[in-house]
Amino acid sequence: MNREGIKKAGLIIKDGGLVAFPTETVYGLGGDALNPESSKKIYEAKGRPSDNPLIVHIADIDDIYGIASMEDDGYPMDGIEDKMLSLARAFWPGPLTVILNKTDRVPHETTGGLDTVAIRMPSDNIAREFIRASGGYIAAPSANISGRPSPTRVKHVIEDMDGRIDMIIDGGDVDIGVESTIIDLTDKPAMILRPGAITIDMLRDVIGEVVYAPNLRGEDKDKAPKAPGMKYRHYAPKGELTVVRGLRENVAAYINDKAALYKSDLIKVGVICVDEHVLDYKAEIVRCIGKQGDDEEASKRLYSILRDFDTEGVEVIYSEELGAEGIGVALRNRLLKAAGQRIVDTG
Ligand code: TXA
Ligand code: MG
Repeated sequence: MNREGIKKAGLIIKDGGLVAFPTETVYGLGGDALNPESSKKIYEAKGRPSDNPLIVHIADIDDIYGIASMEDDGYPMDGIEDKMLSLARAFWPGPLTVILNKTDRVPHETTGGLDTVAIRMPSDNIAREFIRASGGYIAAPSANISGRPSPTRVKHVIEDMDGRIDMIIDGGDVDIGVESTIIDLTDKPAMILRPGAITIDMLRDVIGEVVYAPNLRGEDKDKAPKAPGMKYRHYAPKGELTVVRGLRENVAAYINDKAALYKSDLIKVGVICVDEHVLDYKAEIVRCIGKQGDDEEASKRLYSILRDFDTEGVEVIYSEELGAEGIGVALRNRLLKAAGQRIVDTG
């Protein structure tokens, strides 16, 4: 995208329009974060419930002061600004979203009615140029129809958003493939609401104590998650996805049995496995997600594979269990969400 294109995109935003743009995590669907009408349009284009707040994207660290308040009655809030600036220095621009109290400039339409605001400074250069050209504050959820896997390629954005928005900026395939880590600094201790490429250990190294939200620890499953978006069915393919865990032979035997049964009913089955296991499976469509243990590669490919299954009319999907440490925590979180937490243990 050339300078003229970015300028045009900026004018569309200032005019209250919507532009999809690349970031290092997934494609975003951008509108003017300070214009309530733009936020309403974003919810409409995505078909998303309007109580699910949007992330405000900035291009310069100082711009946090325009939208976040780190004071209480004129007094600085205990350590919050230090933590915010330490995180920004360590991880911005990059795949980290920080939640702070909002100022009056941010309309409740953007924050889904909350008095807090989620802020992120993306590392993608096109994204930052676009944000600057737009006046500095872009509200952007992932650029997918609500509930579908987030877009990691421009063709995914076209699939979901063509005809619903004013412009799509093509930035090629994204780098990371899963959405940013979200950390809430208004909570004590600081709390991770969504795992991403910036891991809990990286965050602890910079600001000390950090915990996972209860719904990510497997406790209090019934409690409403603090990131309102995490309560909705998410990242989901049209086919019914099940994660199968256990010894390699058992997993393959289980999936092959199921695939044979479905085949006799003319139901299309898709399988997700690591490269080394591809010959284990007899299903019609088998997709490799990368080498065993390469969670970065798997994160990059997951949503694209799920969307390919949709395109091919796959009705039943089985995946090997994926993701452990590091970005693997985010990978596992998204895979299980896409599966509606359906997991079979074959021992
Ligand atoms: O990587 C990303 O973060 C991508 C790219 C485009 O930047 N954006 C993204 O946005 O994933 P979205 O809207 O798909 O997910 C935002 C999540 C939702 O789960 C939402 O509930 C949560 O952030 N969130 C936003 N503002 C919040 C707030 N004030 N308090 C708690 N959760 C918040
Ligand atoms: Mg999303």
